[in-house]
Amino acid sequence: MTALSVSTSSAASLRADALVVGVAKGPKGIVLAPGAEAVNEAFDGKLAEVLGTLGATGAEGETVKVASPAGLKAALVLAVGLGEAAEAGYELEALRRAAGVAARALAGVKKAALALPAESAEEVEAVALGGLLGSYVFGTYKGNGNGKEPVGELVVLTVRKGSKDAKAAVERAAAIGEEMNRARDLVNTAPNDLTPKSFAAIAQAAGKEHGLKVEVLDEKALTKGGFGGLLGVGNGSANPPRLVKVAYTHPKAKASLAFVGKGITYDSGGISLKPAGHNETMKCDMAGAAAVFAAVVAAKRLGLAVNVTAWLALAENMPSGSATRPGDVLRMYGGKTVEVLNTDAEGRLVLADAIVKAGEDNPDVIVDVATLTGAMVLALGTRTFGVMANSDELRENLHALAGEVGEQSWPMPLPAELKKGMTDSTIADLANMGERMGGGLVAGLFLQEFVAEGIDWAHLDIAGPAFHESAPFGYTPKGGTASAVRTLVRFAEQTAANGKA
Ligand code: BES
Ligand code: MN
Ligand code: ZN
Repeated sequence: MTALSVSTSSAASLRADALVVGVAKGPKGIVLAPGAEAVNEAFDGKLAEVLGTLGATGAEGETVKVASPAGLKAALVLAVGLGEAAEAGYELEALRRAAGVAARALAGVKKAALALPAESAEEVEAVALGGLLGSYVFGTYKGNGNGKEPVGELVVLTVRKGSKDAKAAVERAAAIGEEMNRARDLVNTAPNDLTPKSFAAIAQAAGKEHGLKVEVLDEKALTKGGFGGLLGVGNGSANPPRLVKVAYTHPKAKASLAFVGKGITYDSGGISLKPAGHNETMKCDMAGAAAVFAAVVAAKRLGLAVNVTAWLALAENMPSGSATRPGDVLRMYGGKTVEVLNTDAEGRLVLADAIVKAGEDNPDVIVDVATLTGAMVLALGTRTFGVMANSDELRENLHALAGEVGEQSWPMPLPAELKKGMTDSTIADLANMGERMGGGLVAGLFLQEFVAEGIDWAHLDIAGPAFHESAPFGYTPKGGTASAVRTLVRFAEQTAANGKA
């Protein structure tokens, strides 16, 4: 894991293997970003010129390497593009992305210093978090020498002399970034290694490590409790389901949040089997559970004055002689019956059980996070998650908070008329499928049926951004992204600060 620290040393005197500076597109060519002053001096004030000669334009995502002159302790200078020059200060997301690009470009390097714009505590945090996320490498299965090691150590350079808040900012970035990287590991782990049982064991171990209360319902307890959704989805698999509760409580908490995550460790579609081309990445179908798990651990590490409970609804969706058939009726936790018309619409079944269970604690808000529908990917693309809710205020708030932390999201409606197909089941209370058009919203409407009266609820469909298949960009690697973690943590922070949800 990459070590993070902050320093007020001059970029010239700091011992490191590489120094990172920012460059941007100015009105008259490339300009250096704040933070690069000492490095520029070592180049006799000609750093922008040198970089321009080497082809730098300042474009977002661009990197240019140049050997250091005498006067710098580091041997290498890496210039990273920030996009358009911003006189009034760079957007935090531009800083996160630039730091991420730099950290990725420096994989294999022992120690790098980030001389990027970092005057305010927010800027220090953004550079630190982007660097930590960009340094991520998933190395579990690569033989020695096959893969690159992540950059060993990142030092965030800041001009904030003698202030404690710079150190606190880096610690915040470490708490959030390390838990996000852990969520990415969970998503990237092959589905033969990450099963409901092994995920539950990981949660238990983390609970011990961080002092969180973890309760695991195994298949016996689920049967006894009548969790028909989790059991119905899991019964085709040799790896039985689990429902995991991870609770963080704070003595001064005035509000309680429940985060419910879809944790399908592999989604084959079940008897309604997915065709080739649609199942290769379906290990990512537990990204919601990984996100809520990361969020509750981060809330604890940050010591937020709010109660946060994460519910991981874990099952593997497989076809077999014991699998649920299209046509079966499940009796869900809480008593509602559901006719399963398509076993590939399994996420809503495990989530329904978990949402009813979470509601029994009477939290102020329930937020579920799920790679729920291909329809949401068609609607919003691969970088934006959909936000649905039974409260306009909550939906708008989560959308706004996501924007603050650099996550792309969009508010989506829950039009009542789309419920019709689901409530048309002739033999059960609900069917697990309805209208084909607006499939992402139909799934949201299904979940809403399981939210107890009086509880505010939101649903984040992260099917698009949870798993990144194309080339890395900014601080986003290929594979698991830890989508929604920062939004959940920010929401918990806001709730703690306001003393109410
Ligand atoms: N896990 C999938 C949704 C998904 C698709 C996630 C693409 C990530 C990327 C989900 O369980 C699913 O199969 N949904 C079906 C629902 C349909 C059968 C009503 C879908 O979206 O096609
Ligand atoms: Mn499915
Ligand atoms: Zn699924």
